Amino acid sequence: MFKKRIRRNWFVPKGEELTELDKKVLSFQNRGCLVPSRDLIKTPEQVEGIRRSGVVNTGVLDLVAQEIHEGMTTLEIDQLVYDYTVGHGAIPAPLNYEGFPKSVCTSVNEVVCHGIPSESEVLKEGDIINVDVSTILDGYYSDASRMFVIGKTTPEKQKLVDVARECLEIGMEAARPFGFVGDIGNAIEKHAKKNGFSVVRDLCGHGVGLEFHEEPDVEHFGRKGTGMLLVPGMVFTIEPMVNMGDWRVFVDEEDGWTVVTEDELPSAQWEHTFVMTEHGLEILTY
Ligand code: MF3
Ligand code: CO
Repeated sequence: MFKKRIRRNWFVPKGEELTELDKKVLSFQNRGCLVPSRDLIKTPEQVEGIRRSGVVNTGVLDLVAQEIHEGMTTLEIDQLVYDYTVGHGAIPAPLNYEGFPKSVCTSVNEVVCHGIPSESEVLKEGDIINVDVSTILDGYYSDASRMFVIGKTTPEKQKLVDVARECLEIGMEAARPFGFVGDIGNAIEKHAKKNGFSVVRDLCGHGVGLEFHEEPDVEHFGRKGTGMLLVPGMVFTIEPMVNMGDWRVFVDEEDGWTVVTEDELPSAQWEHTFVMTEHGLEILTY
């Protein structure tokens, strides 16, 4: 999603006794660090709700993995996603979200993200496609995406897909409790650059769970020790978009959604929803 950049505080109502966590976060806040607002910390019940939503979301992606094939249209993927999601008592989060017309984002080759499924888009041998699935179950949101390769692709495109996946894993490892969002982006960008690729800067990961897009912005580049403090109980996505060429992108002005690389070279993205724990990130969309 596009960046939001809202600044709020860790606020403890007057008269309420400070917990150890309050004291710890306030000490960061007093040093001038960007900290989450307290309502970004999910309760264990909320985390379980998001995890249940994530189970449906993963079911959708597993189904797509089974069914995707050369000659299929991206609209057929949309239909699979809609039917499975609704069949499991859930709602596809993209459908009608800010006017998005379909149930899933399908982004082929030079499309970075937010591609709209279409009857006229037929998958062909060598295509790489991101399928970005987001689910609402009992009011809880989960969000994850994977890349699929149609048949066999070129070594360059295969490497792009693989490195983007490694970027997600490396970003996940870089996220530590009471570290910072910038630690994630820093690790991701280093790995992409090392492999000769670039990282999209205009779109980021995001808090998720009670809404589709919450704070913080999770940029996939940046400096260690910058961005929001990572506090146990925060739930957010990491979803690096890695470009074969330049990092610059534009939005298709005809549909207002499809994000495309400026140089029209391919782009790849993987995404999970995570909860920060005392020990590091746990994936909620396995
Ligand atoms: N799933 C996308 C994300 O990861 C958001 C898509 S918004 C939509 O942030 F409307 F295009 F679905
Ligand atoms: Co997302």
